[in-house]
Amino acid sequence: MRTAVVTGGGTGIGRAIALALVDQGLDVTVTGRRAEVLAQVPNVKHVAFDATDPAAVEAALDSLPSTVDVLVNNAGGAVSGPDTKSRWLANYESNVISTVLVTEALAPRLADHGRVINIGSIAGRRGGGSYGAAKAAVEAWTADLAGELGKRQITANVVSPGLIVDTEFFGDSMTEERLNTLIGQTKNGRAGTPQDVAALVAFLASEHAGHITGQVLAVNGGAHLGR
Ligand SMILES: NC(=O)c1ccc[n+]([C@@H]2O[C@H](COP(=O)([O-])OP(=O)(O)OC[C@H]3O[C@@H](n4cnc5c(N)ncnc54)[C@H](OP(=O)(O)O)[C@@H]3O)[C@@H](O)[C@H]2O)c1
Repeated sequence: MRTAVVTGGGTGIGRAIALALVDQGLDVTVTGRRAEVLAQVPNVKHVAFDATDPAAVEAALDSLPSTVDVLVNNAGGAVSGPDTKSRWLANYESNVISTVLVTEALAPRLADHGRVINIGSIAGRRGGGSYGAAKAAVEAWTADLAGELGKRQITANVVSPGLIVDTEFFGDSMTEERLNTLIGQTKNGRAGTPQDVAALVAFLASEHAGHITGQVLAVNGGAHLGR
């Protein structure tokens, strides 16, 4: 049975990705910092650790699959901070360091013909301050990764969502006005769902997507055009 590891798989987009991969018949492990949240995801294994902490990532390796067919680096988010430097570093840690540490730790376990899918953001192309800059760095690093892993027929891509509701991403910061503004920027006049993102990730994870690598694929209802 093919295996998958989905970081940040306890909530929102990561949870939907984990469930979509279970539907595809994969043996899925979800990770995140809150064990009690992970435990509520059905039909998956779960391992709690902080993906930004090198020692915690190392310690988790014993509990993660010995062969990984699909790695989805989804953990991350927009982090606030008391001052400029701490906010920039916190967003870099949450989105870039987590992705790099987990990928480097699991790279020796990636199966030939495996898949690495990193979750970026529309903010990486459109602005978004320290968070957007961190997601842009994820895109740049994924281009290198595709080159490194390509020799083993492993693909590496970024899936870049726009506004996605039904997640913990916005906390209590979302207002009706902001929501309507973001929806108004789409071409189809609706917010995205975690399932919209999961459907693309599931395709990229499949055997049909072996010649798609080094790409940034948007799921944003046309709110930003990748042309
Ligand atoms: N929702 C959107 O509109 C949107 C748009 C563009 C991109 N994204 C990206 O999509 C991804 C998923 O976010 P989401 O929208 O589904 O929000 P979410 O519900 O907040 O999911 C983020 C997940 O990542 C985990 N996580 C965060 N930091 C972690 C760390 N240091 N170590 C381990 N796990 C960590 C969280 O669990 P714990 O707190 O338990 O660790 C949580 O389950 C993120 O990378 C986000 O930047 C979201």
